[in-house]
Amino acid sequence: MLIIPGPASQELGKKIAELLNTKTVAVTFKKFPDGESYIRLEGEIRNEEVAIVQTTSPPQDTNLLQLFLMADTAKSLGAKKAVAVVPYLAYSRQDKRFLQGEALSVETVAKLLKEAGVDQLLTINVHEPKVLKKFPFPAQTISAIPLLAEYFKNKGLKGAFALAPDEGAKEYALTADKILNGGYGWRHKERDRYTGAISFRDDKFDVEGKDAVIFDDIISTGGTTADAVKTLKAQGARRVYAACMHPLLIGDAEKKIMANGAEEIVGTDCIPSRVSKVSVAPLIANALAAEKEA
Ligand code: R5P
Repeated sequence: MLIIPGPASQELGKKIAELLNTKTVAVTFKKFPDGESYIRLEGEIRNEEVAIVQTTSPPQDTNLLQLFLMADTAKSLGAKKAVAVVPYLAYSRQDKRFLQGEALSVETVAKLLKEAGVDQLLTINVHEPKVLKKFPFPAQTISAIPLLAEYFKNKGLKGAFALAPDEGAKEYALTADKILNGGYGWRHKERDRYTGAISFRDDKFDVEGKDAVIFDDIISTGGTTADAVKTLKAQGARRVYAACMHPLLIGDAEKKIMANGAEEIVGTDCIPSRVSKVSVAPLIANALAAEKEA
């Protein structure tokens, strides 16, 4: 299998290729003066299986389009199979019609990937795993929570309380607790579907004098995590850390979370950022290797 490190995941793609001891196909990319994307795959890929590594964090639409261009080009140059490795899958939060008439965006993305020639998809902690069942090709999500929990364990935080900032993230806290063993819990969050404003129930957690780590899939504006940090501190937590798989960190998200008393924000390289301290390369390399053996 050859690895194609897409413009949005160059480093991660190269790390995966190194772990698999396989070759990469270089991608030349640029923007035309009018903003259109240019893509060129440099290398022989006829009759090869290829894994295209391209995250779809902002600019989502450009990164998605580059992914479509790479998949379609690979297939038209004779690749026999194209696996899209999309560590952060854009539009995955728009998986339902919350209001009548809304686009089922993640399903549209899946249909377009299929049209572009994608045969299979591999992602990390997709927001709602159930949505992958509707994809028109095999699609798998892998959890990076154990890697994040190990990061904190190695930092001396065994015994820290694991908090999920909403019910949807409950599974993350439960998985992390198997490694940190300090107990776990989750908050009850509500979002106003018109304004986007969030509110929380007044939950109490067993954190008095203890360290705590908040685990979420995405930190976007930072509002959810910042509020969780504030709540844990107010309930007597000693040190509070924030972790996520997908550090989108829009605007002053990082500042907001730190200002509420967090010690550190830790993310993965699903999205390259200042806080991407944990690499998902081994998870993806293992999944691709297992795929090859199957
Ligand atoms: C939503 O359900 C997600 O799991 C995250 O909690 C959410 O995307 C975080 O958004 P923000 O950082 O803007 O509060």
